[in-house]
Amino acid sequence: MEIYEIEGGHKLEGEINVTGAKNAVLGIIPATLLCSDVFTIENVPNINDVVKYKKILKKLGVTFERDGDVLTINSKGLCDYDCSPYEDEISEMRASYYLIGALLGRYKKAIVPLPGGCSIGDRPIDLHLKGFRALGAKIENVHGAISVEAEKLKGARIYLDFVSVGATINIMLAAVLAEGETVIENAAKEPHVVDIANFLNHMGANIKGAGTDTIKIRGVKKLHGCDYNVIPDQIATGTYMIAAALTDVDVLIKNAIPKHMEALTSKLREMGVEVINEGFGIRVRGKRPFKSADVKTLPYPGFPTDLQQPIAILMMLADGVSIIEESIFENRFKYIEELRRMGADATVKDRTCVIQGTDQLSGTQVRATDLRAGAAMVLAGLVADGFTRVSNIHYIDRGYEDFDKNLRSLGAVIERKEV
Ligand code: EPZ
Repeated sequence: MEIYEIEGGHKLEGEINVTGAKNAVLGIIPATLLCSDVFTIENVPNINDVVKYKKILKKLGVTFERDGDVLTINSKGLCDYDCSPYEDEISEMRASYYLIGALLGRYKKAIVPLPGGCSIGDRPIDLHLKGFRALGAKIENVHGAISVEAEKLKGARIYLDFVSVGATINIMLAAVLAEGETVIENAAKEPHVVDIANFLNHMGANIKGAGTDTIKIRGVKKLHGCDYNVIPDQIATGTYMIAAALTDVDVLIKNAIPKHMEALTSKLREMGVEVINEGFGIRVRGKRPFKSADVKTLPYPGFPTDLQQPIAILMMLADGVSIIEESIFENRFKYIEELRRMGADATVKDRTCVIQGTDQLSGTQVRATDLRAGAAMVLAGLVADGFTRVSNIHYIDRGYEDFDKNLRSLGAVIERKEV
């Protein structure tokens, strides 16, 4: 098993580049199944979820070549809408549910094993299925796989009861080749939702309003291949901003998009951290003591739920009491248990976490309970006294390219070790 071993107390200084957005790429890759053509996609992060998609698409007859951060996908060989033989690969990755929307859009039929839940909540896909039904699909659960089929896909008006990123993206994928106009109301507005809509428009789709509450998709007859450059990862950017804030010196996160980071930037400033937007880059200067602050996670442009765990570390070292309210997922505080082992003073009740700032965390063994919790454990290790050993780091590999290498380039003492 591999772990990260971090020696706390080293200041971070310097600059790093942020890679392309994981949650954009995980929607763009299945979108290439909507037609038979060739795609060149740049700024694709080298993360495990992309490797998992490569394995699945290869089995569907789609070739996938990587050269550095450029992915060439050739979907001319796509030969099937039935993914049920690839249950193992599919269950490992939540975003595999985009295969339903893409294959339904392409073939008007799809059979895809249900994605697993995970440790941050039950994560149902009822809103995705509500959208597919509205477009004319019949849905069955066949031995744990979702089977969707439609004589014809016809545009519809779909209201999302909850602002769901996944449902917004999956309905877009299914609707771009449908007849007539589809309107998604109460749509998610995350930067990666906009990026996927832009990619689909580069393929010849007709999507308007991405980034607002109402997305209009006018069905087209045919789509084609394209070249595309993925936006920088909002959550990786935020994670490195918080790492810089924690360690008291000056870090520049290059090629980040300040506009995407506004909720975090204003919260960091509220806590006394200096954040300077420099065109396509964000400079962060932490200086203790940090002021306590409260956060409520919300759909974009509110505070991102994926940065709830990293910012909790800053709150643990702030003066006074900070409160986090997790309004998106019902079980996203499991990591607090691990941080208590490092001396954190935090209590969780339902979807609220109350954090009493302390002077110092102390290094010990901790487990990553999910992707962003794993990143938060590493951030805690950067400032804890002594050594922190983080296990289950495969979670981190799913969403952060070269996480330890980037932190080391800024001066952190972090090693990946086989134990
Ligand atoms: C996406 O998950 C991201 N994953 C998550 O990032 C992110 O935390 C989340 O959006 C919110 O921003 C990917 O993009 C691959 P949702 P998703 O649908 O689409 C409920 C990370 O660390 N819901 O917006 O699953 C759901 O249970 C990951 O990169 C329904 O009830 O999020 C949750 O409570 C973690 N029914 C809430 O809505 C549905 O049909 C938000 O879910 C769909 C969702």
